[in-house]
This record gives sequence, structure tokens and C-alpha cells, in this order.
Amino acid sequence: MGSSLSALNIIPNPMSLTVSGDMFVLSDLVDIYVRPATDEVTNIGRYLAGRLSPSAGFEISVLEAADIPPDENIHLILAEADPGLGEEGYILTITPQRVTLMAYRPAGLFRGCQTIRQLLPPSIERATAQPGSWTLPTLTIRDYPRFEWRGAMLDVARHFFSVDDVKRYIDLLAYYKMNRLHLHLTDDQGWRIMIDAWPNLAAHGGSTQVGGGPGGYYTQADYADIAAYAQSRYIMVIPEIDMPGHTHAALASYASLTCDGAAPPLYTGTEVGFSSLCVGKNETLAFVGDVVREIAALTPGPYIHIGGDEALSTEEAEYRQFIEQVQAVVEAQGKHMIGWEEIAKADLQPGSVVQHWRNGEPAKSAAQQGNRVIMSPAFRIYLDMKYDETTPLGLSWAGYIDVKTAYDWDPASQVEGMPESSILGIEAPLWSETLETISDIEYMAFPRLPGYAEIGWSPLSGKDWEAYKRRLAAHGARWDAMHVNFHRAASIAWEE
Ligand code: ACM
Repeated sequence: MGSSLSALNIIPNPMSLTVSGDMFVLSDLVDIYVRPATDEVTNIGRYLAGRLSPSAGFEISVLEAADIPPDENIHLILAEADPGLGEEGYILTITPQRVTLMAYRPAGLFRGCQTIRQLLPPSIERATAQPGSWTLPTLTIRDYPRFEWRGAMLDVARHFFSVDDVKRYIDLLAYYKMNRLHLHLTDDQGWRIMIDAWPNLAAHGGSTQVGGGPGGYYTQADYADIAAYAQSRYIMVIPEIDMPGHTHAALASYASLTCDGAAPPLYTGTEVGFSSLCVGKNETLAFVGDVVREIAALTPGPYIHIGGDEALSTEEAEYRQFIEQVQAVVEAQGKHMIGWEEIAKADLQPGSVVQHWRNGEPAKSAAQQGNRVIMSPAFRIYLDMKYDETTPLGLSWAGYIDVKTAYDWDPASQVEGMPESSILGIEAPLWSETLETISDIEYMAFPRLPGYAEIGWSPLSGKDWEAYKRRLAAHGARWDAMHVNFHRAASIAWEE
């Protein structure tokens, strides 16, 4: 590692890397050979070809590898003999003759493809043919993640974002080897997913957003499209239906869900904590049952997030009972419940996961009871916090989060007394009260998001802000090539 590694500017920092000082030339003779040529491995080959061909300006074919694989090519090999690499690890060997990417599982090949992209010049990320000499340094990398859960959350409720916006965010997460996208689908200001049994949730509850704009919602086909797109990038989508608070849009859509039987008008402000489902009511349990059943059917992954945060208008005993009821409904659908740390007040099943965001105590008590925890401490990792007092977007209730504050912490020493074995990983939430466009999302996520990706993936032993800062500086040119709107933080010496 050391200087040769930082010169390569890979984010997240690989586990181990040895550079040998020569190069492989990606010429118009290069193709991608896959072995075995299953649909899945072939698709990963096509994905890589699709990232390289347009800017390189020549066609890269994806072919089945012969017994004696030809030189002068890129080889993607699923080698089931090396389980030590885990689901997402890979070995990348580059010699002057060939590029060989090996993994135990397809996800590892996909993660390794991101390393290949980052080893090429930034202009490889442009969408049209570029002049360039496409060389890769000769090296060996053996790499796998520290934490299983390396996520981002996007709030599509306060402002609605299109399917294409979400796919773009997925692609940016994939570039940094992140593997979870948590979609905050419902809140006071909007309900963003069609529930067939309760169509007015989306039709009415999705018809506006913060500030009074038109809002929107995903059809079930849209949602399935997002989940499949994410899956093709080896990213799991976790749907969140926030309950029993943050439910004004649902209450405005169905009078029968309110305690007094009167549906309030829609809400387009930014207060929190004022709404609650009528938790004792049979209608409420029928609603929860239908919503969880339909969401579970749309969800390939094992988790459903049920929110549970800031239920300030729900009486405490009723809150606990409600969370336990919802947990039973989620488990009956064959899924596990995730909730914000407040759910630790309830009796949790062993498979339920607690997401820490503000106060370490509930997460610690959940960990002590054997539940796993996702670390999202607001003052370190909330992407909607401003960088400093001049940031035009975002909020500051958890403080300003500059690039160093975002990078320079360790999830395992965040909550006193919480063992690392309880930590599933980290997740960077992006709440959208002040964000209206994908360009706004990019501005808050970049340049902080790659730091979270590195905290989640890379060994703590290699962590060094000064070295990271130099690697990060080289990514500005990559974001320019991808047309990512990023914050040119003054603390980073951006390379052109
Ligand atoms: C939260 O920020 N209300 C989880």
C-alpha cells in the first residue's frame, strides 16, 4: 500500500495492492472473455464493455473464454475455489499481457469492474469517443469489504424523484462499491408507491410535495424496474414505509385511518412529529397488513424498513405495541423488520435491525439484546447537512459536515460499549426537504459519499485523511466526465 496506492486514487481503498510498474494497453484489439459464460457473468462483461466502449471509441465484444484464454484481453472469471473472497471480494491481476478479474461470486466481479474503471483515465467516464491512450497500471489487488452493509438512503417523499433520477443515483453508488439503497417512500408530505388495495394513498397522498409542487409516485412496475436495475448493480433496495408517525399523507388520503374520522388537507411544510396512525383501530391493522404484503411482494431482498422514528404524537405504550404488531406482520411475510433506533423500545425479534441516527442508547440496548445495528449518526453521515454556513442547500440541525468530518470517524468506536460484531454496516441518509432535482442530490452527496463508501469497505488500518484527500482530489475530473454536480470543497486540491 502506501504511496503507490494513493497514486492510483482508488476509492474505496483496496484491502491490499501491489504495483509492478508496467502497463496494459486497452487497444481496439481488446475483448472481454467471460468464464463460465452464464447469463449473469456475460451480463457483467457487457456492463463493463458498456462503460468502456463509448469513450474508448471502439467496440469491445464479450466472448466465451476458450480453454487456453487468449492474451491481450480482459478476463472475467468466476472461481468458486476461493470462498475467502466472500460475496463481494475479487482479485484483480494486471500484467502487460492481460487483465484478469477473479471472484468467488458474481457480485465480486461487478465490484472489481469498478476498480478497473477507476484505474483508467477519468475521460473513460465520458459518454462519447475521447482521444486517449487507455492504459492500466500492472498490479495485483486482493480486495473485499469490511462491512456487509454499505448503504445510502434517498428521501423521495419530501420531494419526489423520477425513476431515471433514482437509477442515476444507483449508478453513482455502484461506482463506489456501495450495496444498499434504502428508499424513504412515505412521509407527511407524500406517499410515493402505489398500493393496489389502497390506491388513494398514491393518487391523492402522492399528489404534492414540500413547497406544493406536483409530487408524484411510483407505479408497482416503476418500483420493480428500480429494484431490478439496482439488482443488476448488486445493490439491494430496502423500501421504507414510515409508521406510526410521518404518516400525514396517508391520513389525508383515507379518513378511515384517522381517529376522528376526518381526513385532513395535504401538508407541504417541513415540520416533523405531528402525525400518527390511529394505532388501536382495526382499520389501521388492515392497512398495515395490506401495505406490508404488497411491499413484500415487490421486494426481492429480505428487509422491510418500517420507520418508527419521531412518533411524537403516539403514546409510548401504544407505540411499543404497534411496533411489535408491525414486526409480526413483516415476519409473517418472510421478511425482517428494520426501523430507526426508536424501535428499540419494543421487544425485537432476533432478525430485526435497528438503524442508529441520533442517540446511541437505543442502538446499544438493541445490540446488547443481540440485534444488529446500521450506523447512521446524523452529525457524521446525514448527507442533507450543509457542508458549512455558505452551503445553499440542506439543513444544519445536526451541525455542518465538511468533507473531513464526514470521512474521519470509525463506526465501531461511535457508540461507547457497542461491539463491532453488532454493526451490520453504515448508511448515509439524504433527506430531501430542500432538494428538488438530481443535481441538488449530487451536490449534497459529492464529495462526501465516497468517504462513506470507504468507511464501509476499507480496512481501518489504512485510514489516513491526508492520503484520502489526495485520492479524492483526483475524482473531481471523474465527476466532471460523468456530469455530476459536486461541491468543490475548498479543503480539497481538485485536479483538472
Ligand atoms: C430521522 O432522521 N428522523 C430518522
